[in-house]
Amino acid sequence: ETPSLKDAYKSDFYIGTALSADQIEVKNAKEDSLIRKEFNAITAENIMKSMYVHPQKDKYDFTLADKFVAYGEKNKMFIHGHTLIWHSQLAPWMEKIADSTEMKAFMQDHINTIVSKYKGKINSWDVVNEALNEDGTLRQSVFLKTLGEKYLVDAFKLATKADPKAELYYNDYNIEEPAKRAGAIALIKKIKAEGGKVDGVGIQGHWRLGSPSIEEIEKSILEYSALGVKVAFTELDITVLPNPWDLKGAEISQNFEGSAKMNPYPKALPDSIQNKLAERYASIFKLFLKHKDKISRVTFWGVHDGQSWLNDWPIKGRTNYPLPFDATLRHKKAYDSILNLKETK
Ligand code: G3I
Repeated sequence: ETPSLKDAYKSDFYIGTALSADQIEVKNAKEDSLIRKEFNAITAENIMKSMYVHPQKDKYDFTLADKFVAYGEKNKMFIHGHTLIWHSQLAPWMEKIADSTEMKAFMQDHINTIVSKYKGKINSWDVVNEALNEDGTLRQSVFLKTLGEKYLVDAFKLATKADPKAELYYNDYNIEEPAKRAGAIALIKKIKAEGGKVDGVGIQGHWRLGSPSIEEIEKSILEYSALGVKVAFTELDITVLPNPWDLKGAEISQNFEGSAKMNPYPKALPDSIQNKLAERYASIFKLFLKHKDKISRVTFWGVHDGQSWLNDWPIKGRTNYPLPFDATLRHKKAYDSILNLKETK
Protein backbone atom coordinates (compact mmCIF):
# COMPACT_ATOMS: atom_id res chain seq x y z
CA GLU A 1 0.00 0.00 0.00
CA THR A 2 1.48 3.34 -1.02
CA PRO A 3 0.76 6.24 1.34
CA SER A 4 -2.09 8.67 0.78
CA LEU A 5 -2.91 12.19 1.88
CA LYS A 6 -6.02 11.16 3.75
CA ASP A 7 -4.22 8.45 5.72
CA ALA A 8 -1.21 10.62 6.48
CA TYR A 9 -3.42 13.38 7.89
CA LYS A 10 -6.03 11.10 9.44
CA SER A 11 -5.49 12.27 13.00
CA ASP A 12 -5.23 15.96 12.01
CA PHE A 13 -8.07 17.05 9.71
CA TYR A 14 -10.08 15.87 6.72
CA ILE A 15 -8.37 16.07 3.35
CA GLY A 16 -10.99 16.93 0.78
CA THR A 17 -11.44 17.53 -2.91
CA ALA A 18 -14.00 19.20 -5.15
CA LEU A 19 -15.70 16.89 -7.63
CA SER A 20 -16.83 17.75 -11.14
CA ALA A 21 -20.04 16.27 -12.56
CA ASP A 22 -18.00 13.65 -14.47
CA GLN A 23 -16.17 12.59 -11.33
CA ILE A 24 -19.46 12.25 -9.44
CA GLU A 25 -20.75 10.04 -12.23
CA VAL A 26 -17.51 8.01 -12.16
CA LYS A 27 -16.72 8.43 -15.86
CA ASN A 28 -13.05 7.47 -15.40
CA ALA A 29 -12.10 4.48 -13.25
CA LYS A 30 -8.48 5.52 -12.75
CA GLU A 31 -9.53 8.96 -11.56
CA ASP A 32 -12.12 7.40 -9.30
CA SER A 33 -9.63 5.16 -7.53
CA LEU A 34 -7.32 8.12 -7.02
CA ILE A 35 -10.17 10.10 -5.43
CA ARG A 36 -11.07 7.24 -3.11
CA LYS A 37 -7.46 6.61 -2.17
CA GLU A 38 -6.41 10.18 -1.41
CA PHE A 39 -9.45 12.02 -0.04
CA ASN A 40 -11.94 11.54 2.78
CA ALA A 41 -14.07 14.63 2.23
CA ILE A 42 -15.91 15.89 -0.85
CA THR A 43 -17.51 19.10 -2.09
CA ALA A 44 -19.43 19.39 -5.36
CA GLU A 45 -17.53 21.92 -7.47
CA ASN A 46 -20.70 23.13 -9.22
CA ILE A 47 -23.72 20.86 -9.19
CA MET A 48 -25.25 21.90 -5.87
CA LYS A 49 -25.28 25.58 -6.75
CA SER A 50 -28.67 27.27 -7.00
CA MET A 51 -28.96 27.35 -10.79
CA TYR A 52 -28.48 23.58 -10.96
CA VAL A 53 -30.62 22.32 -8.06
CA HIS A 54 -33.36 24.97 -8.27
CA PRO A 55 -33.66 25.95 -11.94
CA GLN A 56 -37.23 27.23 -11.68
CA LYS A 57 -39.33 28.59 -8.87
CA ASP A 58 -41.33 25.42 -8.43
CA LYS A 59 -38.81 22.96 -9.75
CA TYR A 60 -35.85 21.36 -8.06
CA ASP A 61 -33.48 18.96 -9.77
CA PHE A 62 -31.52 16.73 -7.43
CA THR A 63 -30.38 14.15 -9.99
CA LEU A 64 -26.68 14.93 -9.69
CA ALA A 65 -26.83 16.06 -6.07
CA ASP A 66 -28.27 12.67 -5.13
CA LYS A 67 -25.41 10.94 -6.94
CA PHE A 68 -22.90 13.18 -5.18
CA VAL A 69 -24.29 12.33 -1.75
CA ALA A 70 -24.53 8.62 -2.59
CA TYR A 71 -20.88 8.68 -3.71
CA GLY A 72 -19.80 10.16 -0.39
CA GLU A 73 -21.88 7.75 1.64
CA LYS A 74 -20.65 4.72 -0.28
CA ASN A 75 -17.04 5.76 0.30
CA LYS A 76 -17.61 6.87 3.91
CA MET A 77 -16.52 10.41 3.16
CA PHE A 78 -17.30 13.66 4.96
CA ILE A 79 -19.83 15.40 2.71
CA HIS A 80 -19.84 19.18 2.40
CA GLY A 81 -22.67 21.13 0.77
CA HIS A 82 -21.71 24.05 -1.50
CA THR A 83 -23.60 26.38 -1.46
CA LEU A 84 -26.99 27.73 -0.30
CA ILE A 85 -26.94 31.53 -0.51
CA TRP A 86 -24.53 32.95 -3.12
CA HIS A 87 -24.95 35.86 -5.52
CA SER A 88 -23.31 33.92 -8.36
CA GLN A 89 -24.56 30.95 -10.41
CA LEU A 90 -28.14 31.80 -9.48
CA ALA A 91 -30.96 30.67 -11.76
CA PRO A 92 -32.21 33.55 -13.94
CA TRP A 93 -35.55 33.64 -12.12
CA MET A 94 -33.77 34.23 -8.81
CA GLU A 95 -31.96 37.29 -10.14
CA LYS A 96 -35.36 38.87 -10.78
CA ILE A 97 -36.59 38.62 -7.19
CA ALA A 98 -37.33 42.25 -6.42
CA ASP A 99 -38.86 42.60 -2.98
CA SER A 100 -38.44 41.41 0.55
CA THR A 101 -41.59 39.27 0.66
CA GLU A 102 -40.56 37.30 -2.39
CA MET A 103 -36.97 36.97 -1.22
CA LYS A 104 -38.02 35.78 2.22
CA ALA A 105 -40.23 33.14 0.64
CA PHE A 106 -37.41 32.12 -1.69
CA MET A 107 -34.88 31.71 1.11
CA GLN A 108 -37.27 29.77 3.26
CA ASP A 109 -38.24 27.35 0.51
CA HIS A 110 -34.73 27.02 -0.96
CA ILE A 111 -32.82 26.42 2.26
CA ASN A 112 -35.49 24.27 3.87
CA THR A 113 -36.01 22.06 0.82
CA ILE A 114 -32.32 21.41 0.17
CA VAL A 115 -31.04 21.08 3.73
CA SER A 116 -33.98 18.90 4.89
CA LYS A 117 -33.55 16.61 1.90
CA TYR A 118 -30.02 15.77 2.96
CA LYS A 119 -30.55 15.99 6.70
CA GLY A 120 -28.13 13.67 8.48
CA LYS A 121 -26.30 13.00 5.20
CA ILE A 122 -24.63 16.26 4.30
CA ASN A 123 -22.33 16.95 7.24
CA SER A 124 -21.67 20.65 6.72
CA TRP A 125 -22.93 23.50 4.57
CA ASP A 126 -21.63 26.73 3.10
CA VAL A 127 -24.75 28.58 4.19
CA VAL A 128 -23.62 31.94 2.87
CA ASN A 129 -20.88 32.29 0.28
CA GLU A 130 -18.88 35.41 -0.65
CA ALA A 131 -21.06 38.09 0.99
CA LEU A 132 -18.16 40.52 1.41
CA ASN A 133 -16.36 43.09 -0.72
CA GLU A 134 -12.56 43.34 -0.55
CA ASP A 135 -12.76 46.27 1.89
CA GLY A 136 -14.85 44.23 4.30
CA THR A 137 -18.19 45.89 3.54
CA LEU A 138 -21.20 43.85 2.43
CA ARG A 139 -21.55 43.03 -1.25
CA GLN A 140 -24.53 44.57 -3.06
CA SER A 141 -26.16 41.25 -3.90
CA VAL A 142 -29.79 40.57 -4.70
CA PHE A 143 -30.08 39.33 -1.10
CA LEU A 144 -28.73 42.50 0.48
CA LYS A 145 -30.80 44.68 -1.84
CA THR A 146 -34.09 43.02 -0.98
CA LEU A 147 -33.63 42.11 2.70
CA GLY A 148 -30.76 44.17 4.06
CA GLU A 149 -28.14 42.64 6.38
CA LYS A 150 -30.77 40.53 8.05
CA TYR A 151 -30.57 37.98 5.27
CA LEU A 152 -27.35 36.70 6.81
CA VAL A 153 -28.75 35.63 10.17
CA ASP A 154 -31.98 34.49 8.50
CA ALA A 155 -30.03 32.09 6.29
CA PHE A 156 -28.23 30.53 9.24
CA LYS A 157 -31.44 30.23 11.25
CA LEU A 158 -33.27 28.54 8.38
CA ALA A 159 -30.43 26.06 7.89
CA THR A 160 -30.29 25.26 11.60
CA LYS A 161 -34.01 24.62 11.63
CA ALA A 162 -33.80 22.27 8.65
CA ASP A 163 -30.90 20.23 10.08
CA PRO A 164 -29.91 21.17 13.63
CA LYS A 165 -26.90 18.85 13.57
CA ALA A 166 -25.30 20.00 10.31
CA GLU A 167 -22.25 22.24 10.71
CA LEU A 168 -22.86 25.67 9.26
CA TYR A 169 -20.12 27.72 7.60
CA TYR A 170 -19.57 31.21 6.30
CA ASN A 171 -17.32 30.77 3.23
CA ASP A 172 -15.33 33.41 1.33
CA TYR A 173 -12.07 34.18 -0.53
CA ASN A 174 -9.31 36.59 0.52
CA ILE A 175 -10.64 36.63 4.07
CA GLU A 176 -7.10 36.15 5.30
CA GLU A 177 -6.36 39.70 4.07
CA PRO A 178 -6.68 42.23 6.94
CA ALA A 179 -9.57 44.43 5.72
CA LYS A 180 -11.74 41.62 4.43
CA ARG A 181 -10.87 39.51 7.48
CA ALA A 182 -12.13 42.28 9.75
CA GLY A 183 -15.34 42.26 7.74
CA ALA A 184 -15.73 38.50 8.09
CA ILE A 185 -15.11 38.65 11.82
CA ALA A 186 -17.72 41.38 12.22
CA LEU A 187 -20.16 39.39 10.08
CA ILE A 188 -19.77 36.21 12.14
CA LYS A 189 -20.04 38.12 15.42
CA LYS A 190 -23.20 39.84 14.23
CA ILE A 191 -24.90 36.63 13.15
CA LYS A 192 -24.08 35.06 16.51
CA ALA A 193 -25.22 38.12 18.44
CA GLU A 194 -28.54 37.93 16.60
CA GLY A 195 -29.04 34.32 17.66
CA GLY A 196 -27.71 32.50 14.62
CA LYS A 197 -25.55 29.38 14.90
CA VAL A 198 -22.25 29.60 13.00
CA ASP A 199 -19.99 26.56 13.43
CA GLY A 200 -17.19 27.47 11.13
CA VAL A 201 -15.50 29.80 8.71
CA GLY A 202 -14.40 28.57 5.31
CA ILE A 203 -11.27 30.28 4.03
CA GLN A 204 -11.35 29.38 0.34
CA GLY A 205 -7.60 29.53 -0.19
CA HIS A 206 -7.31 30.51 -3.86
CA TRP A 207 -3.72 31.54 -3.32
CA ARG A 208 -0.55 32.51 -5.16
CA LEU A 209 3.08 31.39 -4.85
CA GLY A 210 4.05 34.54 -2.95
CA SER A 211 0.89 35.59 -1.17
CA PRO A 212 -0.86 35.64 1.21
CA SER A 213 1.98 35.38 3.70
CA ILE A 214 2.15 32.55 6.22
CA GLU A 215 1.89 35.24 8.92
CA GLU A 216 -1.45 36.53 7.61
CA ILE A 217 -2.80 32.99 7.27
CA GLU A 218 -1.72 32.23 10.84
CA LYS A 219 -3.29 35.43 12.19
CA SER A 220 -6.49 34.44 10.43
CA ILE A 221 -6.56 30.97 11.96
CA LEU A 222 -6.04 32.46 15.42
CA GLU A 223 -8.50 35.33 15.07
CA TYR A 224 -11.29 33.21 13.62
CA SER A 225 -10.92 30.43 16.13
CA ALA A 226 -10.98 33.02 18.92
CA LEU A 227 -14.61 33.59 17.83
CA GLY A 228 -15.34 30.00 18.78
CA VAL A 229 -15.69 28.70 15.22
CA LYS A 230 -13.84 25.96 13.39
CA VAL A 231 -11.55 26.95 10.55
CA ALA A 232 -11.71 25.06 7.26
CA PHE A 233 -9.67 25.66 4.12
CA THR A 234 -12.33 24.93 1.60
CA GLU A 235 -11.06 25.56 -1.96
CA LEU A 236 -7.29 25.38 -1.80
CA ASP A 237 -5.22 25.86 -4.94
CA ILE A 238 -2.12 27.86 -5.84
CA THR A 239 -1.86 29.57 -9.20
CA VAL A 240 1.58 29.59 -10.80
CA LEU A 241 0.59 32.08 -13.52
CA PRO A 242 0.56 35.88 -13.46
CA ASN A 243 -2.72 37.72 -13.17
CA PRO A 244 -3.06 40.58 -15.66
CA TRP A 245 -3.37 43.10 -12.83
CA ASP A 246 -0.06 41.95 -11.36
CA LEU A 247 1.82 43.07 -14.46
CA LYS A 248 2.94 46.65 -14.40
CA GLY A 249 2.84 49.60 -16.81
CA ALA A 250 3.88 48.84 -20.35
CA GLU A 251 3.79 45.13 -19.64
CA ILE A 252 0.03 45.22 -19.23
CA SER A 253 -0.76 46.43 -22.72
CA GLN A 254 1.59 43.83 -24.19
CA ASN A 255 0.28 41.00 -22.15
CA PHE A 256 -3.36 40.44 -22.77
CA GLU A 257 -5.25 37.28 -23.61
CA GLY A 258 -3.36 34.80 -25.74
CA SER A 259 0.09 36.29 -25.26
CA ALA A 260 2.97 34.02 -24.27
CA LYS A 261 3.39 35.81 -20.98
CA MET A 262 -0.17 35.06 -19.99
CA ASN A 263 0.30 31.35 -20.70
CA PRO A 264 4.01 30.84 -20.10
CA TYR A 265 4.11 27.06 -19.57
CA PRO A 266 1.73 25.56 -22.13
CA LYS A 267 3.48 22.15 -22.26
CA ALA A 268 4.95 21.54 -18.82
CA LEU A 269 5.78 23.31 -15.61
CA PRO A 270 9.55 23.99 -15.36
CA ASP A 271 11.34 22.28 -12.47
CA SER A 272 12.14 25.58 -10.80
CA ILE A 273 8.46 26.49 -10.49
CA GLN A 274 7.55 22.89 -9.66
CA ASN A 275 9.91 23.20 -6.69
CA LYS A 276 8.50 26.56 -5.66
CA LEU A 277 5.00 25.14 -5.67
CA ALA A 278 6.16 22.20 -3.53
CA GLU A 279 7.81 24.56 -1.04
CA ARG A 280 4.74 26.75 -0.90
CA TYR A 281 2.44 23.79 -0.19
CA ALA A 282 4.90 22.51 2.44
CA SER A 283 4.97 25.79 4.34
CA ILE A 284 1.18 26.05 4.21
CA PHE A 285 0.64 22.50 5.48
CA LYS A 286 3.29 22.99 8.15
CA LEU A 287 1.22 25.88 9.44
CA PHE A 288 -1.97 23.82 9.22
CA LEU A 289 -0.34 21.09 11.30
CA LYS A 290 0.79 23.61 13.89
CA HIS A 291 -2.87 24.61 14.33
CA LYS A 292 -4.51 21.26 13.63
CA ASP A 293 -6.66 21.55 16.78
CA LYS A 294 -8.39 24.56 15.18
CA ILE A 295 -8.71 23.18 11.64
CA SER A 296 -11.52 20.86 10.62
CA ARG A 297 -10.83 20.27 6.95
CA VAL A 298 -8.51 21.14 4.09
CA THR A 299 -10.13 20.72 0.69
CA PHE A 300 -8.38 21.16 -2.65
CA TRP A 301 -10.41 22.84 -5.40
CA GLY A 302 -10.25 19.93 -7.78
CA VAL A 303 -8.55 16.55 -8.03
CA HIS A 304 -5.94 17.39 -10.68
CA ASP A 305 -4.56 20.28 -12.75
CA GLY A 306 -6.51 19.33 -15.87
CA GLN A 307 -9.79 20.01 -14.13
CA SER A 308 -8.88 23.29 -12.43
CA TRP A 309 -11.03 26.41 -12.91
CA LEU A 310 -7.71 28.31 -13.02
CA ASN A 311 -7.19 27.13 -16.61
CA ASP A 312 -10.06 29.45 -17.49
CA TRP A 313 -9.67 32.33 -15.04
CA PRO A 314 -8.97 35.22 -15.22
CA ILE A 315 -8.22 34.40 -18.84
CA LYS A 316 -9.70 31.51 -20.76
CA GLY A 317 -7.62 28.65 -22.11
CA ARG A 318 -4.43 28.93 -20.06
CA THR A 319 -2.50 25.94 -18.74
CA ASN A 320 -2.20 26.19 -14.98
CA TYR A 321 -0.66 23.83 -12.44
CA PRO A 322 -2.24 24.65 -9.08
CA LEU A 323 -2.90 21.22 -7.53
CA PRO A 324 -0.88 18.27 -6.14
CA PHE A 325 -1.79 16.02 -9.11
CA ASP A 326 -1.06 16.80 -12.76
CA ALA A 327 -3.49 16.42 -15.63
CA THR A 328 -2.37 12.83 -16.24
CA LEU A 329 -3.14 12.03 -12.58
CA ARG A 330 0.50 11.66 -11.62
CA HIS A 331 1.42 13.16 -8.30
CA LYS A 332 3.71 16.17 -8.34
CA LYS A 333 6.50 17.31 -6.03
CA ALA A 334 3.86 19.35 -4.23
CA TYR A 335 2.16 16.09 -3.26
CA ASP A 336 5.40 14.62 -1.91
CA SER A 337 6.15 17.75 0.06
CA ILE A 338 2.75 17.62 1.78
CA LEU A 339 3.15 13.93 2.55
CA ASN A 340 6.77 14.25 3.72
CA LEU A 341 5.77 16.62 6.53
CA LYS A 342 4.07 13.67 8.16
CA GLU A 343 6.48 10.89 7.22
CA THR A 344 9.62 12.48 8.61
CA LYS A 345 8.02 12.73 12.04
O1 G3I B 1 -21.79 23.05 -17.58
C1 G3I B 1 -21.53 23.99 -18.63
C2 G3I B 1 -21.37 23.29 -19.94
O2 G3I B 1 -22.59 22.68 -20.28
C3 G3I B 1 -20.96 24.31 -21.00
O3 G3I B 1 -20.73 23.66 -22.21
C4 G3I B 1 -19.70 25.06 -20.57
C5 G3I B 1 -19.31 26.14 -21.55
O4 G3I B 1 -18.59 27.17 -20.91
O5 G3I B 1 -19.95 25.66 -19.33
C6 G3I B 1 -20.27 24.75 -18.31
O6 G3I B 1 -20.46 25.46 -17.11
C7 G3I B 1 -19.30 25.94 -16.48
C8 G3I B 1 -19.24 25.33 -15.08
O7 G3I B 1 -18.17 25.90 -14.36
C9 G3I B 1 -19.10 23.82 -15.10
O8 G3I B 1 -17.92 23.45 -15.74
C10 G3I B 1 -19.38 27.45 -16.40
O9 G3I B 1 -19.28 28.01 -17.69
C11 G3I B 1 -18.28 27.98 -15.54
O10 G3I B 1 -18.46 29.38 -15.34
C12 G3I B 1 -18.28 27.29 -14.18
O11 G3I B 1 -17.18 27.79 -13.45
C13 G3I B 1 -17.20 27.48 -12.07
C14 G3I B 1 -17.20 28.77 -11.26
O12 G3I B 1 -17.15 28.45 -9.87
C15 G3I B 1 -18.44 29.60 -11.54
O13 G3I B 1 -18.51 30.70 -10.74
C16 G3I B 1 -15.96 26.67 -11.74
O14 G3I B 1 -16.04 25.40 -12.38
C17 G3I B 1 -15.85 26.47 -10.23
O15 G3I B 1 -14.61 25.89 -9.91
C18 G3I B 1 -15.94 27.81 -9.52
O16 G3I B 1 -15.88 27.59 -8.13
C19 G3I B 1 -15.92 28.76 -7.31
C20 G3I B 1 -16.65 28.36 -6.03
O17 G3I B 1 -17.92 27.85 -6.34
C21 G3I B 1 -16.78 29.57 -5.09
N1 G3I B 1 -15.48 30.15 -4.82
C22 G3I B 1 -14.69 30.49 -5.98
C23 G3I B 1 -14.53 29.28 -6.90
C24 G3I B 1 -13.65 29.62 -8.09
O18 G3I B 1 -14.24 30.59 -8.89
